Amino acid sequence: MASPLLSFFFFFFFLCYAAVASQSPFTEKAALIRYWNRKIPNNLPHPAFLVSKLTPLSASDATTFFNLAASDPSLLSSHLASFCSAAGLLCPADLTPSLSSHPRDSDFAAYQNSNFTNYGTKSADGLSSFKNYSDGLNVPLDTFRRYGRDSTFHDDKFSFYAPDGNVVTANFTSYGTNTAGGTDGFTSYDESSNVPDLKFNNYAAEGTGREGVFTQYSDNTNAGDQAFNSYGKNGNGATSDFSSYANNSNVIGSTFTHYGEEGNGVNDTFASYGDNGNVPENNFRSYGDGTNGGVDKFTSYRDQSNVGDNFFTSYEKSGNVGTADFTNYGNSFNPGSDNFKGYGQGSFNDQITFKEYFADNTSFTVYAKTGVDFKEYHNTSSSSTPTASAVDTKKSAVEKKKKQDLAKRFVEPGKFFRERSLKKGTVMPMPDIRDRMPPRSFLPRSISGKIPFSAASVDGIFRILPDTAMGKAVDSTLADCNRAPSHGETKRCAASAEDMIDFAVAVLGNDIEVRSTANTTGSKGNIIVGDVRGVNGGKVTESVSCHQSLFPYLVYYCHSVPRVRVYVADILAVDSKQKINQGVAICHLDTSDWSPTHGAFVALGPGPGKIEVCHWIFEGDMTWTVADHA
Ligand SMILES: *[C@@H]1O[C@H](CO)[C@@H](O)[C@H](O)[C@H]1NC(C)=O
Ligand SMILES: *[C@@H]1O[C@H](CO)[C@@H](O)[C@H](O)[C@H]1NC(C)=O
Ligand SMILES: *[C@@H]1O[C@H](CO)[C@@H](O)[C@H](O)[C@H]1NC(C)=O
Ligand SMILES: *[C@@H]1O[C@H](CO)[C@@H](O)[C@H](O)[C@H]1NC(C)=O
Ligand SMILES: *[C@@H]1O[C@H](CO)[C@@H](O)[C@H](O)[C@H]1NC(C)=O
Ligand SMILES: *[C@@H]1O[C@H](CO)[C@@H](O)[C@H](O)[C@H]1NC(C)=O
Ligand SMILES: *[C@@H]1O[C@H](CO)[C@@H](O)[C@H](O)[C@H]1NC(C)=O
Ligand SMILES: *[C@@H]1O[C@H](CO)[C@@H](O)[C@H](O)[C@H]1NC(C)=O
Repeated sequence: MASPLLSFFFFFFFLCYAAVASQSPFTEKAALIRYWNRKIPNNLPHPAFLVSKLTPLSASDATTFFNLAASDPSLLSSHLASFCSAAGLLCPADLTPSLSSHPRDSDFAAYQNSNFTNYGTKSADGLSSFKNYSDGLNVPLDTFRRYGRDSTFHDDKFSFYAPDGNVVTANFTSYGTNTAGGTDGFTSYDESSNVPDLKFNNYAAEGTGREGVFTQYSDNTNAGDQAFNSYGKNGNGATSDFSSYANNSNVIGSTFTHYGEEGNGVNDTFASYGDNGNVPENNFRSYGDGTNGGVDKFTSYRDQSNVGDNFFTSYEKSGNVGTADFTNYGNSFNPGSDNFKGYGQGSFNDQITFKEYFADNTSFTVYAKTGVDFKEYHNTSSSSTPTASAVDTKKSAVEKKKKQDLAKRFVEPGKFFRERSLKKGTVMPMPDIRDRMPPRSFLPRSISGKIPFSAASVDGIFRILPDTAMGKAVDSTLADCNRAPSHGETKRCAASAEDMIDFAVAVLGNDIEVRSTANTTGSKGNIIVGDVRGVNGGKVTESVSCHQSLFPYLVYYCHSVPRVRVYVADILAVDSKQKINQGVAICHLDTSDWSPTHGAFVALGPGPGKIEVCHWIFEGDMTWTVADHA
């Protein structure tokens, strides 16, 4: 039995320890720091950015959740709310059901995470207004099902719907069936959101004279999908108006299937569709089949967009006296692929017109041989391979320069730079290095190690519906993690801080340290490079870089990166010349395995293997190297 003196001694020891680690010794966080010190015994400080991501669980909570997970991980699900809040996880909200009655006018301001079912059936006149719905939320889930059936002249207005959200799911199913008159106004829908999943299924079917107005639909969004399926089927004299659809968006997939099928005198207008997009994927399948009369108008289709793909399959099939009008189609700044198949086939007296068509019209297979009219045709496909310009010596210098300027405008300025820029006094743009992902913590390995790394288990435990933005994020993280490493790559998905430390030690040895840029000050503006220090004397080294993935708890995709130089550089404000940030930059010396279409070469020129490419370590990411004891 320990003597009181010995107990006191231990207690004193703990107090000292706590002071050193600035942590209570009884937390999981303190336990992890002890693990870190044991695996990497070089006494270097633990950077705050990583310490802040360690689990906030108290030792007693950790024990409770560990015991649950150890006996059966699915038991965590029945304590989800307390587990998520105690462990700092990203869990979908619980949905509240909609009210049961529907007044003539209703006002849902600053509403969120609701499940509207069978709401507002047979309402007449009036307005339902949804304003600032799910504003700036993480993982919101909004569903509308059988909403406003059989209503007449009832207006629905959605403004600022799910803006600035993260991993947004919005699902409209059988909304507004068999309505007459009235307007659906979506203004600023899902603006500036990250990884959205937006769906309209069977929306406004059998409607008569209903008007749908979508303005600024999913502008400035990042990496998501939106789908309109059987939208406005069997509509009669209805109109849909999309203006500014997915403007300025990055890697957005848009799918329209069975859109406006069998419509009668239905007018659909898309103005400014997918402009300024980066790698947009547009997919129109069975769009406007069997329509009678009516007009489809696309003005400014993917103007100034960068690569991506367009599919029009079975478009306006068997239409009757309809009109499809494309004005300014595909004036891309880097052409994408076009694929028209079964376009306007079997239609009768249809008029399909392309005014100003910028693409290769040979991508039309099986399409109406008559009634398709190219007013002005610009074949741009000859310049469709961005690499071609590098080797094409015949191209005039002016043309090359023009293309490069355009490209520079596209890849965010400062995202990639040459090693020679890392010199005191260089003025350069700094990209937006802010972490846009929702905050989450690591789970202790004792718990994360008990959660099977499969979609079925993770979705089950965290009550994630597979068909949501979050469900898709989980799938994509697992797919990245399970993919075989590329040539020469050593990789590991770290589902805990312990895993990450183990991997870094396995690759680099146990005398290592981890760095990231200090904060995000200077982002999106010009900065001056101040004092620059090459890590380990600027020697060529190997690093382990870790990028966060989207998952309910922190999971990092870590991989070894051979042949790099890592720099720590003071970042100064242009006006005051004061230090505002401390950047960590990594220069990849061997780019020979990179894709020729990599943004780095779009921005900097030459090509794979011809130049080194440097970038800042963004907020949330980090890089491990052999320790620099200098
Ligand atoms: C919404 O509520 C309906 C009816 O209660 C239910 O069937 C459906 O599963 C709910 N949706 C979600 C996503 O929870
Ligand atoms: C709704 O969002 C808009 C745009 O973000 C903002 O200007 C407005 O103040 C918000 N209104 C409310 C009531 O939150
Ligand atoms: C969204 O709607 C589709 C089609 O009705 C349905 O299958 C799916 O379960 C819904 N998803 C959610 C999350 O409500
Ligand atoms: C559809 O457009 C045509 C031609 O522009 C017009 O004559 C017709 O009135 C429009 N229909 C509706 C329902 O707006
Ligand atoms: C698209 O976004 C750009 C850049 O923000 C803006 O200048 C332009 O006006 C937008 N276009 C439309 C149609 O809203
Ligand atoms: C493509 O456009 C050219 C030039 O306008 C025209 O001569 C040719 O017939 C078109 N090809 C197809 C497949 O429409
Ligand atoms: C457009 O240019 C590409 C590449 O030069 C060529 O293969 C294609 O035949 C051209 N298309 C037409 C319709 O002239
Ligand atoms: C950002 O980091 C620099 C360098 O560590 C520091 O001087 C500055 O105060 C930090 N700024 C903010 C807003 O945290």
